[in-house]
Amino acid sequence: LRAAFAGLLCGSCSGTQSALDPAGHEAAEVLTLFWVMLVGAALIWTVVIGAAVFGGRFQKKPIDERAGLRIVLWAGAVFPTVVLAALLVFGLRLMPVLRAAEPALRIEVSGEQYWWRVTYLGPDDTRIESANELRLPVGRAVELILTSADVIHSLWIPTLAGKMDMIPGRTNRLVLRPERTGIYRGACAEFCGRSHALMAFPVVVMEPAEFDAWLARETAPAPPGRDPGAFLASGCGGCHTVRGSEAAGTIGPDLTHLADRRTLGAGILPNTPENLKRFIADTERVKPGVRMPSFGMLPGADIEAIAAYLGSLK
Ligand code: CUA
Repeated sequence: LRAAFAGLLCGSCSGTQSALDPAGHEAAEVLTLFWVMLVGAALIWTVVIGAAVFGGRFQKKPIDERAGLRIVLWAGAVFPTVVLAALLVFGLRLMPVLRAAEPALRIEVSGEQYWWRVTYLGPDDTRIESANELRLPVGRAVELILTSADVIHSLWIPTLAGKMDMIPGRTNRLVLRPERTGIYRGACAEFCGRSHALMAFPVVVMEPAEFDAWLARETAPAPPGRDPGAFLASGCGGCHTVRGSEAAGTIGPDLTHLADRRTLGAGILPNTPENLKRFIADTERVKPGVRMPSFGMLPGADIEAIAAYLGSLK
């Protein structure tokens, strides 16, 4: 029982999605702020409740009015004001710290019901579009340029930084400085519709050289791969782009290197052939409210062929 209780208490203290186990500079600052705020709040609670309990003693014996006023003034007003003002100053000190870095890399991320459009901005205004996965170099400052295509979303990678809203018609910026390689989890932190809880993404923090090699691969068009016939004939190219093929739709996620991604459906299913077929045939059940219709009416052979083609896009 004790082990179960400890597990419950500390189930979220470490791992891929914990603000208590930072893997980046910004998250470490946020964690310090959290502990300082917690200690400040505990201090105020102790003093105010202590004063209230102490004051309760006087219910039997009528209190000296002056003494009562002094307790209310010092414990109830002056002390909390001083502690809260100190916390405010400490918190405001963080604002320039969190904005200081000059980014080495810029990435646009757009929240859409219920997935993430991710565009790496290269030199000379090149734009490399990807989706539903974020790759970052360790030790470099990265600026995320955040927008939304429909409703308000919020991007949160607890191990790397605080959350930032994605608001239609507005551009928000979030600087990240990952300090530890690994695979973390990001999620949408603002209720945005039926599949809000199914809007996540893996974040892969890599060594800079490894990241550069990956970005070069990502920039290249899709490999020739398997036969795209069924994919194109079923109209998938109306919504999806596969660079290097005829598919050039922009409504849905770019699928150019889909086979290289860790998950399907924005962080909800491991990227396996079985899950790929399931997502195509039963989209609405896997992700309620998603804009892609289910393609379950296609003959099984076509679904096999589409999945085989997408599975070959390394
Ligand atoms: Cu997007 Cu919640």
